Amino acid sequence: MKFLIICASVSNGNTRRVADSMAEVLGADVVTPEAVDVDSLGQYDLIGFGSGVYFMAVHPRLWNLVRRLPVDDTGTRRAFTFFTSGARRMRLLDYGGPLGRKLAAKGFDVLDSFWCLGCDTVGPLKLLGGVNKGRPNETDLEQAAEFAERLRRRVEIAQAPPML
Ligand SMILES: Cc1cc2nc3c(=O)[nH]c(=O)nc-3n(C[C@H](O)[C@H](O)[C@H](O)COP(=O)(O)O)c2cc1C
Repeated sequence: MKFLIICASVSNGNTRRVADSMAEVLGADVVTPEAVDVDSLGQYDLIGFGSGVYFMAVHPRLWNLVRRLPVDDTGTRRAFTFFTSGARRMRLLDYGGPLGRKLAAKGFDVLDSFWCLGCDTVGPLKLLGGVNKGRPNETDLEQAAEFAERLRRRVEIAQAPPML
């Protein structure tokens, strides 16, 4: 089983910490969007796409990569998404939605999405030392690892040869 995690984390490394926690469980490499060779992605059983939220959107570096992905209609590609943001996740501002739909349009089966708060130091918040200090915390990172473990089991079951 091969796993890859692609992560755009440009502010405080919050999303990268979540990615690292997932990567430990999956035995995955964590790479930046620019480091991805789009033609080599077929070798992975599951690919995570993660980003901090910046001005109410996923980072353009991740979008640019997703746009460049070739469409694959083999029905064999699986993905998950993950985010950190300064504000709580809201149904109306579900950053996973547009990215998940774009990945689905590229032929990915998007299995699930993970989110947690991240310390936010944008603009004047920096003067206050940021909000959500210490996030992602140990609990967030444990939940990220548990999320990855659940996905790993799902993929393992899906890949297992049929019982005779
Ligand atoms: C330039 C900038 C814009 C941001 N815009 C938003 C936003 O629109 N909504 C939100 O909830 N958080 C926003 N944040 C907070 C980040 O989403 C949060 O700090 C996130 O954990 C950053 O992840 P990173 O450290 O991996 O870059 C913004 C942060 C920065 C630096």
